[in-house]
Amino acid sequence: MPLNWVQSLLNWYRENKRNLPWREQKDPYAIWVSEIMLQQTRVDTVLDYYRRFLGRFPNMASLAEAELDEVLKYWEGLGYYTRARNLHRGAGEVMTKHRGVFPDNHRDVLALPGIGEYTAGAIMSIAFNEPYPAIDGNVLRVASRLFLLEQDIKSTGVKKEVEGLLKGVFPRQECSDFTQALMELGALICLPTSPKCQECPVQRDCKAYRHNRQQELPLKSKS
Ligand code: ADE
Repeated sequence: MPLNWVQSLLNWYRENKRNLPWREQKDPYAIWVSEIMLQQTRVDTVLDYYRRFLGRFPNMASLAEAELDEVLKYWEGLGYYTRARNLHRGAGEVMTKHRGVFPDNHRDVLALPGIGEYTAGAIMSIAFNEPYPAIDGNVLRVASRLFLLEQDIKSTGVKKEVEGLLKGVFPRQECSDFTQALMELGALICLPTSPKCQECPVQRDCKAYRHNRQQELPLKSKS
């Protein structure tokens, strides 16, 4: 059984999640494309690009076979074009090294171009329902408040600590929703400056809220 706060968060997510196109299916290819686009671009901006990109390149083979120039055209305006190059190269690698099937283990996913720990965790949990956390600035903020972590959020140790804490509470059957619920909480409720604690599904379990420290956290060094 998941912990109470985990269950509250999952229930809240299912009732309140935004209808985003990459949440309509579990195709690892489509999840991959969405996570690469979302690495440096806001959700609102990604929506149109995502629909157009998947309309033209609906699966791994179609992306691998396309000319790089055409892929870049579909990326025009999104910026950070290395992402598009890596997607194209990654599609080629999946076709040759994995017989066209998106790899379903963390090591092989992490080895694809343009995929770091965050994106590998997002893909493993969202597409394959495996307990790998995806820790970005939003999730670090949520965790630093929930667990009252007072280290500098940029320190190397804190990410490892959050990774350990989240790995320990992943609800086994619901890893996909758990990862997205944490992202959603960070995007809609646990905001950087004025968190909406009165609407928060895990208010009762939030250590920062209990001590009225939510506005101070996360602690961040100036540099
Ligand atoms: N940011 C990064 N990945 C995301 C996702 N899957 N849904 C919403 N926002 C995100």
